[in-house]
Amino acid sequence: MKRDFTAITDFSKEEIYAVFDLARELKTKTKSRQEHHLLKGKTLGMIFQKPSNRTRVSFEVGMYQLGGHALYLGPTEIGLGKRESTADVARVLARYVDGIMARVFGHDIIVDFAKYADVPVINGLSDLLHPCQILGDMLTIIEHKGKAKDWTITYLGDGNNIVNSWINLSRLIPMHLKLGVPEGYEPNAELLEQARRIGVSEIQVLHDPVAAARDADVLYTDVWASMGQEAEAEARKNIFRPFAITSEILSRAKANCIVLHCLPAHRGDEISDAVIDGPQSVVFDEAENRLHIQKAILVKLMQ
Ligand code: CP
Ligand code: NVA
Repeated sequence: MKRDFTAITDFSKEEIYAVFDLARELKTKTKSRQEHHLLKGKTLGMIFQKPSNRTRVSFEVGMYQLGGHALYLGPTEIGLGKRESTADVARVLARYVDGIMARVFGHDIIVDFAKYADVPVINGLSDLLHPCQILGDMLTIIEHKGKAKDWTITYLGDGNNIVNSWINLSRLIPMHLKLGVPEGYEPNAELLEQARRIGVSEIQVLHDPVAAARDADVLYTDVWASMGQEAEAEARKNIFRPFAITSEILSRAKANCIVLHCLPAHRGDEISDAVIDGPQSVVFDEAENRLHIQKAILVKLMQ
């Protein structure tokens, strides 16, 4: 039966660790230019309702490095739900391609793709979740800090798709997740409740950014207004300003704390130049790891 990756929780803990191992192996092969055509002759259809740099390029380059091919289908080509229903797009594409990656607004579109396409479907970001990003982030944290062991991971900013995927990962890998968000910008209540009920990790939602940053092993942030929320961007700046990762906030974390940002960054807003360009920032390693983790996910689902 085909498998999908619509959310981190589609994989078991063992599968996630296996994906990390495969990603490391493929990273070594990529860097030493060893051929690894594990998806020779296979095609990935990539549907984008929103803009992208990292996701689009890393999936496309990843498929090429795996001996396959990727097809970019932007908003004007497909007209999801306008020119044709999502179900019909999924049914048709599945006759041509071996896998589908989609970046969409409503998460229900990803769920529909998985339901109606007979090929694996990968979530390349929805309003609710960004699972590929957070698996790549965890790979980066392990590379820099060693084997996963109950780290304090602090996220400061909006309770968005990035945070919701961190909450999902915390159901599988033990961590102390501290979410510093302004009141009214909390993450998805249902996902939070499920993760707390499962009880693998301690999850705190705090409205005090300094308390959230205290003793963090990892500090993480993201844009204050996600794609689709551009009209709110100016109004959000005042609300989110205290949650910016500045040198002052970083000084509250552990001395060896590393800083992550999924990018694109709005320098001077959610993160200062001094922090993102400073010695504790691993954001470009993090961006690179999107390539390696997604190749491992593609191989797991499409080989
Ligand atoms: N982090 C991330 O998904 O970047 P893009 O929006 O550029 O794909
Ligand atoms: N929360 C951001 C993530 C971008 C990679 C957005 O959805 O726009």
